[in-house]
Order: sequence, then structure tokens, then C-alpha cells
Amino acid sequence: MDIALNYNYKIVKQFAIATVVWGVIGMLVGVIIAAQLAWPALNFDIPWLTYGRLRPLHTNAVIFAFGVSGLFATSYYVVQRTCQVRLFSDKLATFTFWGWQTVLVSAAITLPLGITRGKEYAELEWPITLLIAVVWIAYAVVFFGTLIKRKVAHIYVANWFFGAYIIAVTLLHVVNGASMPASMWKSYSAYSGVQDAMIQWWYGHNAVGFILTAGYLGMVYYFIPKQAERPVYSYRLSIVHFWALIFTYMWAGPHHLHYTALPDWTQSIGMVFSLILLAPSWGGMINGMMTLSGAWHKLRTDPILKFMIVSLSFYGMATFEGPMMAIKTVNALSHYTDWGIAHVHGGTLGWVGFITMGSLYYLLPRLSGQNRMYSTRLIDLHFWVATIGIVLYIAAMWIAGVMQGLMWRAVNPDGTLTYTFVEGVKATYPYYVVRFCGGLLYLSGMLVMAFNTFMTLRNRQTAAARIPALAVAHA
Ligand code: HEM
Ligand code: HEM
Repeated sequence: MDIALNYNYKIVKQFAIATVVWGVIGMLVGVIIAAQLAWPALNFDIPWLTYGRLRPLHTNAVIFAFGVSGLFATSYYVVQRTCQVRLFSDKLATFTFWGWQTVLVSAAITLPLGITRGKEYAELEWPITLLIAVVWIAYAVVFFGTLIKRKVAHIYVANWFFGAYIIAVTLLHVVNGASMPASMWKSYSAYSGVQDAMIQWWYGHNAVGFILTAGYLGMVYYFIPKQAERPVYSYRLSIVHFWALIFTYMWAGPHHLHYTALPDWTQSIGMVFSLILLAPSWGGMINGMMTLSGAWHKLRTDPILKFMIVSLSFYGMATFEGPMMAIKTVNALSHYTDWGIAHVHGGTLGWVGFITMGSLYYLLPRLSGQNRMYSTRLIDLHFWVATIGIVLYIAAMWIAGVMQGLMWRAVNPDGTLTYTFVEGVKATYPYYVVRFCGGLLYLSGMLVMAFNTFMTLRNRQTAAARIPALAVAHA
């Protein structure tokens, strides 16, 4: 009997579908705010459509709804396959799905209403923050419970990364979430002044390190070897860079607070650890790339591998750019400009988005008893449309960012500013239009994926009828 029958694929499928649906929503909101930056009248003077409210809706939808749903789906799949056991508890896993969707829907309602804690990436008010903590603990129980009851002695490296992400997020969320409720929808941070800022950016940077990085490295270590049909290039390197990465990330947060009231020495520590972080990051990138040794020719015909390998290239790029931006003198130019936005979207659209999409394209047919997606040509179309979209987006923001930085710091011989602030904003206008076009392309790619996903899942019945063994398996 097919061993897959003993696994809980239903939960994986639910989260996989949620990833695609939330991906479309989150990116659509991204395109709307990109349009608002170019054409501000698009808020139609309606408070809940204003930029300040839609921007956190975008970040929450793409990171926690699209990104984390993808991590739920893949971690639940990988932990079962590599431990060769069913999830620790189906009921608890189902709770994580509905609990997490409740968090996301609450975010989608409260953020446009202007209900926020005002901390970036930790905006959700205290009742939702509490629910997140409960769901997250249930997630940890399901994941680690499954690891404990595994049938193989070894814990495969992908699970190390997923495990680190789950533990670190618990710690970050609980510490940065500590607040004093004043009413049902208003609370105040437990910290004040510069401590509050320090805790917030310790959280913020480690959200990058553990959600937007460690979790996706878990995907890299499972799905790239599977799709390339090659073993991981160096298992030893995977363990070394794992420990180096999780140790180093924790100290880099102050690079978000250069030239602020934070003590100078903490800023310098943040800078130094950020520079060190280049090494473990590239360890992962090189290990993933080299896994393709002997299989590079597959890139010509396999668009899923293209998603995965290009994703690693963006990971390498963002983790080179990040340490450079963490150097105080470089940050003096880049901070407060669109260079930061270019860095963010190189990392998120290129790395996070592409590895998730590649992994889902591997996963979706397998969850529905097929061995490939409905259309490989549509995967290829998605890849190219999205790649062109990213290039337009980040190239526009790089140029705009460096231009803004140079304009805003330019001084005349008499010490007065060469340009007013608004002149910098006006000069940025064409780049905002280009970014909007890039975002629109990226969103179109996501819509193509949604169609391909729908057709693949719809084909399930037909596939089961075509292949007698599967018909039995799904009976
Ligand atoms: C070695 C790795 C990395 C380092 C050292 C690094 C460093 C930095 C620095 C210096 C900033 C600008 C801070 C500022 O001026 O305010 C920044 C911002 C940011 N980075 Fe990275 N980065 C790295 C990798 C990544 C990756 C892979 C991603 C995404 C997947 C990412 C996402 C972000 C985000 C979201 C912000 C904006 C934070 C905010 O102000 O809201 N970073 N990073
Ligand atoms: C169609 C795709 C997307 C578009 C058009 C888009 C657009 C935007 C825009 C216009 C902003 C605000 C920039 C500003 O304030 O100047 C933004 C911020 C942000 N986006 Fe996106 N985005 C997209 C996809 C994504 C994805 C997939 C992710 C994460 C997985 C992401 C993560 C973020 C983050 C973390 C910020 C805040 C950056 C910061 O504060 O420095 N975006 N996005």
C-alpha cells in the first residue's frame, strides 16, 4: 500500500491553497499601494483605503498570510515525509489551519480600520496577538511531536531549519508582543523609548532571519534535491551554516537603528554581525546551487527548477546587499530611501516568493495523486512574467533610492540644501510608475499560478479514474 496514505495530506493541501489565495490578495494590495505612491488620488479620500492603512495590510498579507501559510504547508509535508510518520495530531493540525486563517481575516479587517499597535510587522492588536501565540504553540506541538515519534533515527536538515524558525518566532512574538491592554482594541507596549525600539528591531530583523530566511532554507533542503533528483551538495556545510546562521542573526537587529538614540556601540555590534552574516548566508546559497551539480542541463526544460535556482540567486544577492547596507556610512545614504524597498523586494519577490512557488509546483500535483501540474507551459510563463516583474521593480527602486539619497544630502558651498525634499519626490515619480508595472507583472504571474493550481486540483478525480492504483488509493 502507498505509504502516502498514512500521511495527513489534507492539511498540507489546505495550507497550500491558502498560500496561493493569500498570495493573490497580498500582492494585489501591494500593487494598489504601488499605484497610490504614483497616483495618490487613488485612495479616493476613503479612510480605510489610505496608504497608511493599506501598507501594513500588504506586509501582513504577504508575510504572514502568503509566506507563513506556505511554510505551514511545506513544513507539515516535509516533516511527515522525512520522519516517515503521520503528523502528531490531526486535530491540532486542523486547529492551526483554522486558527491561523482567523488571525489573517482579523488582520484584514482591523488594519484597514486603523487598529494597530504601531510596531512594524507586529501591528496586530493584543487579542489577535494572543491568538497568534496559541496557534503557534499548537504548531510547535504538532511539528516537534511528529519529530519525536519519527521512524528514522536521523533528523533531516530541512527539519532543523523549520524547527529553528518555529522556536525563534515563539520567542520573538512573545517578547515583542508584551503589552498592556487599555481597551479591547488598544494596548501599549511593555517597553518604552529606546528599549522599545531595540526590542522592536531585534524582532524585526529576526523575523527576516527566521521567517523570511530559515523557514525557506527548510524548503531549499527538501525540494531542490527532490526536483533536481540529486543529493544535497554538502550535508556538513548545511549543518555548519545552520548553526552559524542562527547564532549570528540574533545580534544584527541594531543595523535598523543606525544614527539613532541607540548607544553607538550597539549600532557597531549590529553592523559587525551583519557583515559576518554574509558567510553563513552564502553557505546556504552555494550549497543549494551546487546541489544542481551534474543536473544543470535540467534548467533548460524544467521551469520548477528555474524558480528554485533563481530564488537562490536572489537570496545571494539580498544577503550581499544587506551587509553592505548595514555599514554605517552606506546606511547614511540608503536609509529613508527606496534603496531599502529594492532590498526588501529582491529578498521577498525573488527569494521568498520564488522558492515558495517552486516548492508548491512540486507539491500540488503530489497532493492530488498526480505527478505534474496541469500545465508546465503555464509554469514557464509564470516564471518569465514574474522575473521580468522583479527586475523592473528592483531596478527602478535601486535607481530611485540612490538618487534620493544623493539629492537629499547634497549641499551648496554656503551650506544650504541643493534640493528641497519635494524635488526628490518629484524626481522619483517615473520610477514609481515603473515599479507599479513590475508589480503588476508579478501579480499576473501569481494569477497564472492560481489558475494552474485550480486546474491541477480539479483534475484530481480524472487522474484517479485514469490510474487504477490511484483510484484505489483515494477510495
Ligand atoms: C545577510 C543578510 C541580511 C542583512 C545583513 C540585511 C541587512 C539589512 C539592512 C542593513 C537593512 C536596512 C535597515 C535600514 O536602513 O532601516 C535591511 C532592511 C530590510 N531587509 Fe535585509 N538584510 C539581509 C537579508 C535580507 C533578506 C534575505 C530579506 C528578505 C527575505 C531581508 C528583508 C529586509 C526587510 C523586510 C527590511 C526592511 C525592514 C524595515 O525597515 O521595515 N533582508 N536589511
Ligand atoms: C506584486 C507584488 C508586490 C508589490 C507591487 C509590492 C509593493 C510594495 C510597496 C509599494 C510597498 C511600500 C513601499 C514604500 O513604503 O515605499 C511595499 C512594502 C513592503 N513589501 Fe511589498 N510588494 C509586493 C510583494 C511583496 C511580497 C511577496 C512580500 C513578502 C513576501 C513583500 C514584502 C514587503 C515588505 C516587508 C514591505 C515593507 C518594507 C519596508 O518597510 O522597508 N512585498 N511593497
